[in-house]
Amino acid sequence: MTKASPTIIASSNDVYENFMSLYRPERDDPPASVLEQSTDDIPLHTVSTTRYTSQEFHEREVREVWHKVWQVACWGGDIPNAGDTSLYDNAGISAVIVRQNDGTVKAFYNSCLHRGMRLCNTQGSRASLKCRFHGYTWGLDGKCTNLPHAWDFPNLDQENLPLPELAVGEWQGFIFVHPDASARPLEAYLGSMPAQWEAAGWSLDSRFKAIHVTKKIRANWKVAQEAFMEGYHAPAVHPDTIMPAGPFELIRADIFPGEPHFSRGLGSSGVIDVDGENSIARQQAAVDHYVRFYTPEFSARDDLVVTDANTARDIMHRLAVEKARIDNGADLSNMARFDVIDFCWYNVFPNFMPWPTLGYPLAYWFRPIDGPNTCTMDILFLLPHGDTKPPSAQCIDLDYDDPCEPYLGAVGTILDEDMANLPIIQQGLESSKSGVVNLSEYFESRIRHFHSTLGRYVGDDS
Ligand code: FES
Ligand SMILES: [Fe+2]
Repeated sequence: MTKASPTIIASSNDVYENFMSLYRPERDDPPASVLEQSTDDIPLHTVSTTRYTSQEFHEREVREVWHKVWQVACWGGDIPNAGDTSLYDNAGISAVIVRQNDGTVKAFYNSCLHRGMRLCNTQGSRASLKCRFHGYTWGLDGKCTNLPHAWDFPNLDQENLPLPELAVGEWQGFIFVHPDASARPLEAYLGSMPAQWEAAGWSLDSRFKAIHVTKKIRANWKVAQEAFMEGYHAPAVHPDTIMPAGPFELIRADIFPGEPHFSRGLGSSGVIDVDGENSIARQQAAVDHYVRFYTPEFSARDDLVVTDANTARDIMHRLAVEKARIDNGADLSNMARFDVIDFCWYNVFPNFMPWPTLGYPLAYWFRPIDGPNTCTMDILFLLPHGDTKPPSAQCIDLDYDDPCEPYLGAVGTILDEDMANLPIIQQGLESSKSGVVNLSEYFESRIRHFHSTLGRYVGDDS
């Protein structure tokens, strides 16, 4: 391995220096923005437990956050054709997302203008939006096309009865909605993040949705989300699943000044020491774990032995390229090694985490169910493909006690370790004596950044 001697981690600068010491000599061509460390001085270090437990705070979030932000509603590949619809329900918002004849997307409030029935209860392809109660009907464009016995409604004018719309935005293959149809555009909300992705050449909309599950969790949506915003818990929670791949201390956290709506985490595969060595033996252990966990079909290969000329990263890269070709006909041979085996995940306020590189080809988002104590997590695998784009996978609903592993494989095993914790965290927060959670300076800086923005939305800094 050509890595320079790393520094023992004692500060955030050490994390950055160790991260950089990998890429400087290896020339793995990570995008320019990945090579720039970015931190912000966020004063907030404690958060009131009521943010996770109080019904009153939940209602403030519904009012001041969910009804005032852009939020992911669905994967655009789920509605490829005119008339395809998807449903989005969150925090009292119910929207029907409809692919238009010209390929654009509209989102309508899912409530009939007659007596309020939900217009759509199922997703799928439709020629129109027809209410099953009395038959009021709207075209895909939201114009009312049938008002049965219109003569009996002197106060309604079919010609002037469009379905109310939500604002719609699209980014990286995802459809976002904003409850306020006159909201400022999604691009403005996302700040410099889209430009960062574009400069890096990251493109999720070139992938296909291979897996989608919606998992119910007995915890506040932020409790669940925050378990995915730091690697600090990995030694205690994931000793046999994540830790063999590398130390969490090498995971970088980037906060961008002036950007309230996103932050970023970065990590490297196959780099396993923070204490001065990246020994062959430890690299070999990482490779063995990788093969056993992610690519057992390659366990009989004869090129899995780590040497100075065949590092853990060399091997992981080769296996990842091979697996993508065999599984989905995807050609990753021209992709930067960073983009193939390393990992990077963004937090998009309030609840969305897309992973642009293939180390973990994930995207997920969190929504409260009906109060502060329960939530759902939508988890997507977005994979590269060959000449033909495979169809989007159907979403599978997982109940509170259903494991993720049967549907998500090795990643599901990791998630199940987190899922086992989340209800217990929620219970502990509800009986907290101190009434606060403490957040670290660096490893948990993305959570501090999130809560700082949340506080601004709800007008609360406790
Ligand atoms: S409630 Fe929809 S047509 Fe009557
Ligand atoms: Fe975890």
